[in-house]
Amino acid sequence: MPAECDDRESSKDMSYQFPEGFVWGTSTSAHQVEGNNTQSDYWLMEHVEPTIFADPSGDACDQYHRYEDDLALLEKLGFNAYRFSVEWARIEPEPGHFSQAALDHYRRVLEACHDHGLQPVVTYHHFTSPRWVAAAGGWENMETAARFGEYAERVTRDLGDLIGHACTINELNITALIDEFKGTMIPAEAIDGMLAAAARASGSDRFSAFLLGDSAAIEPVAIAGHHSAVQAIKAVRGDLPVGMTVAMSDYQAVPGGEAVMERQRERIQDVYLREAGDGDFIGVQCYSRSRYGTEGMLGPEEGVEVTQMGYEFWPECVEACIRHAVDVTGSPALVTENGIGTEDDGRRLEYLRRALGSLKNCLDDGIDVRGYCQWSLLDNFEWMLGYRPTFGIVAVDRTAQVRTPKPSAAWLGDVARNNRADLS
Ligand code: BGC
Repeated sequence: MPAECDDRESSKDMSYQFPEGFVWGTSTSAHQVEGNNTQSDYWLMEHVEPTIFADPSGDACDQYHRYEDDLALLEKLGFNAYRFSVEWARIEPEPGHFSQAALDHYRRVLEACHDHGLQPVVTYHHFTSPRWVAAAGGWENMETAARFGEYAERVTRDLGDLIGHACTINELNITALIDEFKGTMIPAEAIDGMLAAAARASGSDRFSAFLLGDSAAIEPVAIAGHHSAVQAIKAVRGDLPVGMTVAMSDYQAVPGGEAVMERQRERIQDVYLREAGDGDFIGVQCYSRSRYGTEGMLGPEEGVEVTQMGYEFWPECVEACIRHAVDVTGSPALVTENGIGTEDDGRRLEYLRRALGSLKNCLDDGIDVRGYCQWSLLDNFEWMLGYRPTFGIVAVDRTAQVRTPKPSAAWLGDVARNNRADLS
């Protein structure tokens, strides 16, 4: 349809009106912002010798205690949703022992979201697991899938009435993706040394953590865990929208690399997307593109702009990934993560503007996209890279725990408040 005939496009300012009810949020995860997640496998790995973590997570952004202020800030900025995760290690610190105090804490967080006009988009597992899970073989042990279902059942029973959208396992394909970088960006022996130290510290003969374990062994367990969580959630609250979230990329091939690219996209991403059919939406998480040649993955082209993570500056991944996810799954899409690690907020603004422009192309083609959650609200704990990469639209002084919104926070918040963006 020509732009002038589309009533979403105002003739006066040519800004773009998003569909009514569009979900506008920012995303975080418990371990990356809460602080002191001491019963988790990651806390242990951060503190053993040797470790591959640049910093320990420590107090993180102390959101465990400061959630009220963070939610008030999101409301003030203009957002209508907040994606965060509840922490399995806090809720079930020992097998079968559920902490009512932890569940009550998350109930207060959820109530505060509603008080601030924010729809809670809740992830049940975002990379971290209780230590006892990792010490029993983690996500390489099929029993974990059933354990995760039991945890999901309890979380939904206690909290489900306040949740807006539920995400089962954050990026259940992440270990397959990390495999692509092992041996180059991430030294495999260093990971093995750290996992062996964590095994000794926890008296385990097979300590395995999500993200860093054996991807071939994790794949069937993560998929079974997703299905068992969907069943558990639906059994308690059949009307709660639930979905899988997948780490996606705009897969591209240079001439000759098509077959390799398709094989890797299938192994890393599509095999999981095909399992998403029991959900109500597909959570699209993307940051850049991945180029393939005959020999495998190529890095970014010479001279292109790269982000703090070493990825190419490629906001157009949003359009490519939504289209692909919807094609493969047939489900509506919710962008559950997209953003950029950069010190230069001007580049973040440009990234977000182009990302929303590429999302608009999907809406214009009638694709059902329910919302956009930017990664991340705060500069936070970026896993093995510690606190160096900065993905936040809000800077955090972690000594005084002071939050300072960046210009991108004001821009994206205005887009959210008006449900409209100038994308020219
Ligand atoms: C993860 C986040 C992470 C972000 C930026 C995603 O893969 O879900 O936990 O911080 O990417 O690297």
